Amino acid sequence: MKKYMTAAVGGVLLVSALSVQAAEVDDAIEYRQGIFNAFKWNLGPMGAMIKGKMPYDQAQFTLHAQRLETLSHMPLEGFVEGSDSGDTDAKAEIWSDMDTFSAGFDKLQTNAAALVEASNTGDMEQIKPAFGAVAKSCKGCHDNFRKD
Ligand code: HEC
Repeated sequence: MKKYMTAAVGGVLLVSALSVQAAEVDDAIEYRQGIFNAFKWNLGPMGAMIKGKMPYDQAQFTLHAQRLETLSHMPLEGFVEGSDSGDTDAKAEIWSDMDTFSAGFDKLQTNAAALVEASNTGDMEQIKPAFGAVAKSCKGCHDNFRKD
């Protein structure tokens, strides 16, 4: 009897440990997706200003560029082990090639910092290519590591 009890308690502990782990994975997925949506929120107005769909405002543009630079340091920690399954578009290759994947964020960080610098000049001739480089680093990573 005691033996069964122990097994039952052990089973309950195991199940709760697994569900805690599952909750952590879900939280991690939501966390990184939230940051990516904040990327998009800040990239959008900058793209609109460059295309002339929104009036160019240097202070506003710089604010979005600075936010993007800060945000670019944040998603990586959300790619925890085991979070390739669940409500996610992340490809399994992220975990088998973590070096290349994390280098994609390094690139974005460099390009976003350069965009802040370009934005500080207020010179569209510098802002446009710097913005293009940022957008390219988004796409470069999505092509390899995100399901369509
Ligand atoms: C180094 C890789 C990498 C870079 C750089 C990157 N992304 Fe992503 N992005 C991903 C992955 C992987 C996902 C899928 C995340 C998931 O579903 O768990 C994603 C998902 C997204 C999503 C969808 C979020 C959701 O709600 O499901 C948006 C929007 C997005 N990225 C925008 C951007 C923008 C804008 C940039 C550039 C400023 C960018 N990303 C740069 C890898 C990257």
